[in-house]
Amino acid sequence: APAPIIAPSILSADFAALGAACSKTISDGADWLHVDIMDGHFVPNITFGAPIVAKIRSHVERPQTAYGKGTFDCHMMISEPKKWVKDFQKAGCDNYCFHYEAAIDSTAAENPEEVTDKKTSPKEMIAYIHSLNMRAGIAIKPKTPVDVLWEILDNHNKDEVPDMVLVMTVEPGFGGQSFMADMMPKVKALRERFPNLNIEVDGGLSEKTIDQAANAGANVIVAGSAVFGAKSPADAISKLREGVEK
Ligand code: DX5
Ligand code: ZN
Repeated sequence: APAPIIAPSILSADFAALGAACSKTISDGADWLHVDIMDGHFVPNITFGAPIVAKIRSHVERPQTAYGKGTFDCHMMISEPKKWVKDFQKAGCDNYCFHYEAAIDSTAAENPEEVTDKKTSPKEMIAYIHSLNMRAGIAIKPKTPVDVLWEILDNHNKDEVPDMVLVMTVEPGFGGQSFMADMMPKVKALRERFPNLNIEVDGGLSEKTIDQAANAGANVIVAGSAVFGAKSPADAISKLREGVEK
């Protein structure tokens, strides 16, 4: 599997002092910052948008390489992922990770002519994100089967293939929920087929659950409450890393 990447979710950081919290998290040993964008529509909660991302970007050095330290991993829990790609690119986002459920191809629907809410297909989304020089991630909610991803990952047109898959291990919307161990077969199935893929898990990750995620094959670990709620966030980050390395 690719190298372990620890991506603390700043959803659990102090929003009134976000810039300082972000730069501290990087000096505490984080590789990426996981930035949760919620629109109150795709999920029942609202966080913040591109203007805030641009502000915190000025507190964290841009990564030197693709996927390097300081990568802003934006998890877009929003209904119209296409609409915000440019704004987030301008704000300094490095990975734009949209939800599969928000980008289902309307032409593939049972009755395409009845689909009024025309969505952009995953492969169109990915190509568009790549055209703006960002990495593209695709996320699936707990109730979405992993099988929907095979066709997207097996595509021979590299521009349309995601750089990362995010398997949600809680229902998206809130920090501090319990890890859903029954999502691990999805991670295993992905790892078996794609040995070099970045596979991210998000929700309920901690010292207690990291082994399950790592054994299944996840290498990108998101953790909000386990990092920001810890006495020593630096220790929490290194324990998560050890959990993936061993
Ligand atoms: C949930 C978010 C997560 C959240 C994880 O919708 O996508 O990134 O911050 O929080 P913890 O690690 O506390 O479960
Ligand atoms: Zn997230």
